[in-house]
Amino acid sequence: MPATIIIGAQYGDEGKGKITDIFSEKADYVVRYQGGNNAGHTIVVDGKVYKLHLLPSGVVRGKRCLIGAGVVVDPRQLIKEIKQFNFEVDLGIDPRTHIILPYHNIIDILREKKIKKIKGASIGTTAKGIGPCYEDEKSRIGIRFFDLVSNKNLEDVIIEKFEEKKKVIEEVYGGSLDININDVAKEYAEIGKLLKKYLCDVSSEIFSSLKKGKNILFEGAQGTLLDIKYGNYPKVTSSHPLAGSILVDIGLPPSVFKEFEFKIIGVVKAYTTKVGSGPVVTCLDKGRWPVDEKVSNKIANYIRKKGAEYGTTTGRPRRVGWLDLVLLKYSDKLNNYDELALTKLDVLSGIKILKIAVAYKHNGKEEKEYRAWDLEFLENCKPVYKKIKGFRKFRANNYNEIPKNAKKYIGLIEEYIGKKIKIISIGPERNDIIYKE
Ligand code: GDP
Ligand code: IMO
Ligand code: MG
Repeated sequence: MPATIIIGAQYGDEGKGKITDIFSEKADYVVRYQGGNNAGHTIVVDGKVYKLHLLPSGVVRGKRCLIGAGVVVDPRQLIKEIKQFNFEVDLGIDPRTHIILPYHNIIDILREKKIKKIKGASIGTTAKGIGPCYEDEKSRIGIRFFDLVSNKNLEDVIIEKFEEKKKVIEEVYGGSLDININDVAKEYAEIGKLLKKYLCDVSSEIFSSLKKGKNILFEGAQGTLLDIKYGNYPKVTSSHPLAGSILVDIGLPPSVFKEFEFKIIGVVKAYTTKVGSGPVVTCLDKGRWPVDEKVSNKIANYIRKKGAEYGTTTGRPRRVGWLDLVLLKYSDKLNNYDELALTKLDVLSGIKILKIAVAYKHNGKEEKEYRAWDLEFLENCKPVYKKIKGFRKFRANNYNEIPKNAKKYIGLIEEYIGKKIKIISIGPERNDIIYKE
């Protein structure tokens, strides 16, 4: 299989890191193509926990890892992550990736505060400066990885850009900049020297590797419903976590989909979670974002605790709800998954009655189409549930050993979406995995 694309089918945190780790065993390359260190991908191997934000998950197996042009890179975070490993990381970074500077984080935080003050609820970003960095890219005032590692005037360029940002921070947001830009400029120039060895035309390397029949694994970050255009705008991230975006975010011609074999895998968590605000039709948590666990629904708290549903990047409790097949169908329409990987099925064990949304009711009318763009519509939709008897805690080495009711749960998803679930994850460890044909 020359190429596999791993996609978060819901709101992120579906377990993409773990599924990527499984597939990376046979991969020659593992590639990140969008997002930045807003991602938090967890891999657990023999009790050792790896939390990756920027490096592709293939790094854990010592694979060649590439960061494509669609990613935004925080160089400080990158250095920290590289240092986690006691071996030389085999890494390539595209010259066209954009660089996050400290003023991006500050603007991210101040803007959230302002939105909260005006509208009552902010987006709930990860405060990593993702939006402001992509914004600079689109405004053509950003600093790229190429500039970081090769620009002789880098310090002057950073200081010059900083002047404009200082005005925005102080005059638009009433904030202050507690950083010494001369120090930051010097630090980035030093980091640039350290990272220069990773400069790599990722677009060319991947294209030529595809031609050589190499096995390439594209690791999506975030999830389909967080897509800047096709998610619940504006409660979204600033990139495209969709399968189709590998073309532009890596720099590949559309013909690759005809010329080479591609497999698109949708990673589906057995229930729904969301960090940040925005409509979640099947949400079990009472009250608004952010979650107050003291007043939350019992089942939501049970799932949250058992599934450790607290952000890898921010530590915030994630909102929890039942699985939503209306949403998943929309997600499948955008990505056309070849197969699904179902994660965290073990977390649902011990719940007496499980529910899965198969439709919505809006003003008394049944709706089956997910209108991602109409947040008011979604806020007013009530889920129509199919109930399934729950299953007990289990250990299983193969599909036959899974409890009957868990199989029914899997079957219902397959039937509604019309796609096969071929991988079932039943625990955080690398080996907690079942293959189903
Ligand atoms: P990602 O962002 O999609 O890579 O997902 P995260 O790593 O942010 O969140 C998934 C969390 O669930 C991590 O803590 C994983 O270790 C854990 N996890 C992954 N698969 C399973 C599973 O099947 N069962 C359980 N209990 N935990 C899982
Ligand atoms: P992984 O790859 C879950 C959410 C944030 C917020 C919105 C915008 O681990 O699945 P941003 O900082 O991107 O501007 O925040 O997107 N978000 C994620 N939620 N998993 C992620 O990544 C996320 N990355 C961003 O919580 O609601
Ligand atoms: Mg995550």
